[in-house]
Amino acid sequence: MDREPGLSVRLKLTLSYAGFLMVAGGLLLVVVWVSLLRYIPDQVIFGLPWIRPWRSDPLNGFSLPAAMSLLFLLVFGLVGGWLLAGRMLAPLNRITDAARRAGTGSLAHRIELPGRSDEFRELADAFDAMLARLEAHVAEQQRFAANASHELRTPLAITQTLLDVARSDRNRDPAELVDRLYAVNTRAIDLTEALLLLTRADQRSFAREPVDLSLIAEEATESLLPFAEERGLTLEMSGEETRTVGSPALLLQLCTNLVHNAIVHNLPGGGTVWVTTNVARESVVLTVVNTGEPLSPALVATLVEPFRRGSERIRTDHAGVGLGLAIVKSITEAHDGTLTLIPRAAGGLCVTVQLPAQLV
Ligand SMILES: Nc1ncnc2c1ncn2[C@@H]1O[C@H](COP(=O)(O)OP(=O)(O)O)[C@@H](O)[C@H]1O
Ligand SMILES: [Mg+2]
Repeated sequence: MDREPGLSVRLKLTLSYAGFLMVAGGLLLVVVWVSLLRYIPDQVIFGLPWIRPWRSDPLNGFSLPAAMSLLFLLVFGLVGGWLLAGRMLAPLNRITDAARRAGTGSLAHRIELPGRSDEFRELADAFDAMLARLEAHVAEQQRFAANASHELRTPLAITQTLLDVARSDRNRDPAELVDRLYAVNTRAIDLTEALLLLTRADQRSFAREPVDLSLIAEEATESLLPFAEERGLTLEMSGEETRTVGSPALLLQLCTNLVHNAIVHNLPGGGTVWVTTNVARESVVLTVVNTGEPLSPALVATLVEPFRRGSERIRTDHAGVGLGLAIVKSITEAHDGTLTLIPRAAGGLCVTVQLPAQLV
């Protein structure tokens, strides 16, 4: 291992074990020596030679075994400390190894430290959880980049085809070409704007101010009213004042996306959209409910993913870019809120956005 010259933790632990053992052993010997001195009688019976050496020079007889014991303790402490420290630090090597691998970009590796839960196990588990999150995040980003490139390429490819056709057949009506190019270009701009909006919400770099969500929902609903009427839909708005803090522009975008979806993905005629706002304890809740075709919970769970469209059916008048709900989710999360999608039993969807209320 390429480590800077210096004492490793294992060596430091070994030295401290051995040092501690020496100090403890030394203290013990001092205590023994002092008590020996106290208990040896002053009057020694001459003629008992085995007592004499103690009496005449107690230090001499005691110092050799004491030094031997200390030496033994030193060796014992060093060897034992080295082995113990090695055992204790073994999990750390696994964690370091995993961190090195992650550093080189391999996020699939997990430590999976066995054994009972202790500080090392907690560290390893936390590290594993972090790796799992990172891996999922990177995979999501890659999927997103691939999808975004694909979606951005589509209008360019269509434009290319239109231009090819126009070049090979010069007698065609140019007005038709212009109309179709215009439509394709508009779609490309929509897509790019949606992507920019998503980045802005994700970065959380926007100014926040006190807002009334019910007023914003009302504004979005009113502006989409002609669109709903055109499709023979009923749009109902109700609710109380819902004070929160956030970006009015982003929250308007959120409401617009939800109401737009509720109109576009509704029944062909005679459907209804209900937009309600209310205050629930410490949060404000916006609910957008619409009639529509029955949706399975499994499908609904995937709808917020970028570029995910529920039905593959091509609608002539609406070709969504598939970012509407992804933007709603990003804006909601940037406002520390939660987004919930529940399919209605009778068909259609119930979308709830819950944001922290502004406490007065
Ligand atoms: N209110 C809704 N009712 C029914 N289906 C919906 C509703 N909102 C969204 N969906 C489904 O979720 C998909 C993703 O929505 P979204 O991200 O806004 O993309 P887009 O609307 O551009 O297709 C839609 O294609 C649609 O199938
Ligand atoms: Mg949409």
